[in-house]
Amino acid sequence: MEKVTSLCKRRGFVYPGSEIYGGLANTWDYGPLGVELKNNLRDYWWKTFVHDRDDIYGIDGGILLHPKVWEASGHVANFSDNLVECKKCHKRYSTDRLETKKCSECGGEFTPEKKFSGLFKTFIGPTEDTASVAYLRPETAQAIFINFKNVVDSFHPKLPFGIAQVGKAFRNEVTAGNFIFRDLEFEQMEIEYFIAPGTDWQKAFSSWQEAMCQWAVSLGVREKALTVREHNEKERSHYSKKTVDLEYEFPFGIKELWGLAYRTDYDLKQHQNASGVNLEYQTEDGQKFIPHVIEPSFGMPRTLLAVLLESYFEDKKRIILKIKPKLAPIKVAVFPLVANKPELVKKARETYKMLRKEFLVVWDERGNIGKRYFSQDEIGTPWCVTIDYQTLEDETVTVRDRDTMKQERLPVDKILPYFQNMLK
Ligand code: GAP
Repeated sequence: MEKVTSLCKRRGFVYPGSEIYGGLANTWDYGPLGVELKNNLRDYWWKTFVHDRDDIYGIDGGILLHPKVWEASGHVANFSDNLVECKKCHKRYSTDRLETKKCSECGGEFTPEKKFSGLFKTFIGPTEDTASVAYLRPETAQAIFINFKNVVDSFHPKLPFGIAQVGKAFRNEVTAGNFIFRDLEFEQMEIEYFIAPGTDWQKAFSSWQEAMCQWAVSLGVREKALTVREHNEKERSHYSKKTVDLEYEFPFGIKELWGLAYRTDYDLKQHQNASGVNLEYQTEDGQKFIPHVIEPSFGMPRTLLAVLLESYFEDKKRIILKIKPKLAPIKVAVFPLVANKPELVKKARETYKMLRKEFLVVWDERGNIGKRYFSQDEIGTPWCVTIDYQTLEDETVTVRDRDTMKQERLPVDKILPYFQNMLK
């Protein structure tokens, strides 16, 4: 974990939030490589669950929703954490996740348990006293429920169908996280999958469970590092009839990666009652009902962390991030063999520009080739292309593979289709 954290900082994946001011606990900023990895993960998620299916519609709802949304959804009343504080060192613990009766830092006694809301509050209007309270959304899901009728009216989808959304969620987490595992703000990738009441919800549930596991494996996560754990009654959210966590073997323990819940018709019913708007779905043969919903919910930071942990390898000479090429922040690095031969640099620049039109490519002419290779291995770049003296004679270049370190000579006009094919 320390090695991955330090690589993230050093090479520009993830930086501590507000670092020059001493940091802001549980906040992180994504650097140039982190943002590329995050974008690739998000695009791949969207492709898998929205574009490659014909039963899922994407939306992008607001971060600020009407405050009544959060009253109706039950979050104002229920979205809270029970906390205790160490009387000696003042470290706070969530009692839901507490495994000891004494402070693990200093052995101190705990204060009595207190309830803390997990909602971030803000104000809409010119001054706080006259303004109305609003909340930053703690889950993206509610924007889906309140747009259910809009999507049905615009697209007339047949059940079962889903609505997907990716975006930031905000939670006033008071206990410290493990790197980006538990954050105050983080992206969620969620689907509300609507089914007719009385249909076999267990079947839809298991098929989503299977889809989630498969997606994790397609990211490069080892199947044996994943477990499915069902929530007991005490753990389950107020809206859920069944919840499972897809857990991952993080270095700090087996913990929740993503969640899957059967939310029944709870949310749509609550919004129908609170808004007075009819949210029933009408079938072609005229039946009317409130659909039930299965919710696969993916968190971006934990996804990114699992991908980095699974990709990290070391040998005597080098650190390698064996990220799947389709997810790698940079696809190709282009090098002139030496920086002081204008003919080589010119040819390498042409190659760099040609590849750059298609995907993210970097240029490096510092130090020797071996160092440049290792520098790219450490950030997961799958291929390096070197332009050398032979290139000037026969228009071939060296393509070096990150994982095998094997080099092959290819005609320069064949490398673009070669990489495109490898990225399929
Ligand atoms: N809409 C359902 C929902 O939000 P959740 O289990 O509370 O369910 C879903 O959250 C996912 O969001 C989690 O599995 C996790 O990946 C991610 N997540 C939740 N809280 C987080 C936090 N404070 N920091 C980072 N990721 C978080």
